[in-house]
Amino acid sequence: MPYSDREIRPTLLIVDDEPTNLQVLRQILQNDHRLLFARDGHKALELARSEHPDLILLDVMMPGMTGHEACTALKADASTRDIPVVFVTALSDTEDEARGFELGAVDYIVKPVSPPIVKARVRNHLSLVRMDELRESRMQIIERLGRAAEYKDNETGLHVIRMSHYAQTLALAAGWAPWAAEELLTAAPMHDIGKIGIPDHILLKPGALTPEEWDVMRTHPQIGADIIGEHPSSVLRLAREIALCHHEKWDGSGYPRRLQGEDIPLSARIVTVADVFDALTTARPYKKAWTVEDAVAQLHKDKGQHFDPHLVDLFVSALPEVLVIKERWKE
Ligand code: C2E
Ligand code: SIN
Ligand code: SIN
Ligand code: FE
Ligand code: FE
Repeated sequence: MPYSDREIRPTLLIVDDEPTNLQVLRQILQNDHRLLFARDGHKALELARSEHPDLILLDVMMPGMTGHEACTALKADASTRDIPVVFVTALSDTEDEARGFELGAVDYIVKPVSPPIVKARVRNHLSLVRMDELRESRMQIIERLGRAAEYKDNETGLHVIRMSHYAQTLALAAGWAPWAAEELLTAAPMHDIGKIGIPDHILLKPGALTPEEWDVMRTHPQIGADIIGEHPSSVLRLAREIALCHHEKWDGSGYPRRLQGEDIPLSARIVTVADVFDALTTARPYKKAWTVEDAVAQLHKDKGQHFDPHLVDLFVSALPEVLVIKERWKE
């Protein structure tokens, strides 16, 4: 067999002081899982640390260390804390169940166990773990794509960090729910990912762009949208609309589609204010940094032309928080 058992099947640790109980669970679970067994809490902790199983089925009533004590120890150890624990117990007493959940268990199975219930519960908990891992790795990839985006014209990556925090602050000021503002914080760093497709002699040019060079530069929103693609994930949908629409202007004079007013997604209108404020207040290959006062004056001047006027007012009201972000991630 070219792959080890460890690589192709999820690992379960089954803990019970009764050999017959271990046998019953072995019969039910052995076809689809790699199984580890422990007959007491100490052995269970040792195996959990050395093998890092995907799920632990833990008997509550055991001589020596009880299941509750073992669970407490697992949750206190950073190396085993994230392994879901399902209690398997003869006690169907509700007080005991409440105690198990308080200790961090994800579920309860009552003995004598029913094979279909054991299989279904184990399958559900393993797929929840997998979804958490997928969500985590997706966030990591999104974050790293954002860094890649700014790497060419802003090697420190601080621009995307500042502007995405400005965008989060502005979204909260505009009444977005905290979770939604957090999604915006995650998605905003990808707004300029399309600059990857712009040749360096244009992107890094020290002076003003020629009309031909502007034609190329104005393709970066569409390139970005194409790189991000169409994806059901809400963060990636948000990232795509931001990348595509962050150079549209309130009065319809922006690019690439000359969208106007509320036809421009709110996410992109927020990011536009955050992006331009940071672009103005920091140095670029083609320009020096402006003072905060000059940048704020520019936002006011372009209110209703470039920017959603209400968002400019909210941004200026949130300036104390904006300046904390600016100071925290200064160049
Ligand atoms: P960027 O440097 O990230 O700038 C983002 C946006 O901030 C700009 O979008 C513009 O709306 C605003 N902004 C930046 N600097 C200034 C400024 O000095 N004055 C004013 N009024 N607004 C400013 P825009 O103009 O669509 O530019 C998109 C991208 O094109 C820029 O991204 C930059 O990468 C490039 N770019 C813009 N102007 C020049 C230029 O004169 N020379 C070169 N080499 N690149 C430029
Ligand atoms: C919200 O208002 O909480 C979400 C708005 C959005 O995602 O566009
Ligand atoms: C230009 O079109 O030449 C400038 C682009 C802009 O600031 O929107
Ligand atoms: Fe851009
Ligand atoms: Fe930007």
